[in-house]
Amino acid sequence: MTYSTAVPEPGPHGAKTTHMAAGPDTDVVGIAPDPAAAEGILADNPPVDPFEEDTHTRAKEIIARYPVARSALLPMLHLVQSVQGYVSQEGISFCARHLDLSDAEVSAVATFYTMYKRRPCGEHLVSVCTNTLCAAMGGEAIYKKLQTHLGSEDAPLGQEETAGTPNEPGSITLEHAECLAACDLAPVIQVNYEYFDNQTPEKAVALVDALQAGKKPAPTRGAPLTNFKGAELQLAGFFPEDELTYRGDVDGPSQAVETLRGAQIAADRGWTAPATQDVPLPELEKK
Ligand code: FES
Repeated sequence: MTYSTAVPEPGPHGAKTTHMAAGPDTDVVGIAPDPAAAEGILADNPPVDPFEEDTHTRAKEIIARYPVARSALLPMLHLVQSVQGYVSQEGISFCARHLDLSDAEVSAVATFYTMYKRRPCGEHLVSVCTNTLCAAMGGEAIYKKLQTHLGSEDAPLGQEETAGTPNEPGSITLEHAECLAACDLAPVIQVNYEYFDNQTPEKAVALVDALQAGKKPAPTRGAPLTNFKGAELQLAGFFPEDELTYRGDVDGPSQAVETLRGAQIAADRGWTAPATQDVPLPELEKK
């Protein structure tokens, strides 16, 4: 029996107006239907390398930490962001060349994780948790307030958009984030991945005003605030060698009263968890 397949009618929008083709994302450039947009990626000559010698040295240090070079990709992408404030197409090629991967392989990873930004970020990245518990406790209201406060009533800031000029002092990129693993302190905001707990729209406005004024308010817990690029360098695994400076950069209170309350109640009442049984692991089928 044979089947005939109807040829689909073209949609109402030309390829240039689709979401993917219209966006400036680096991954989109590689698959854009417009050949001009793909120039430099498909060409024999790789894009110009904008990275200084010290970044190449750091890349080699990162790679040396792993038995297999490609395992270094995630910290390498953080290294790129510590220099450029996002993962540019040149950054993708930089990782690919160092790790002997294709641009497509690096791009597939960089576009999978939300921590890798595809547009230049502000001096600070402000992430508002709008996942279930934070949303119920006011996270949505905080995000909406910051959208209009950093943008305007008529043109609220969109996801991963920046108030100010990216990379310039006082610029802020706003994003809403999924659960930031601090539900007991909801609603929470992170600035460059440091926590500001138990937020309200008023507190959030005061926080971004301070950032725009060049101040670095102390997070509720965790390390002192730096900026997005500084945090990215730490995520790539680079810290000050001097112990005192290192401690000053990374140390901070790591627990909150709310987090320990359950354990405290259990300790006060003498509750203990049932002992786990030593169950043997099932045999795995041989491949
Ligand atoms: S829902 Fe916001 S931290 Fe978990």
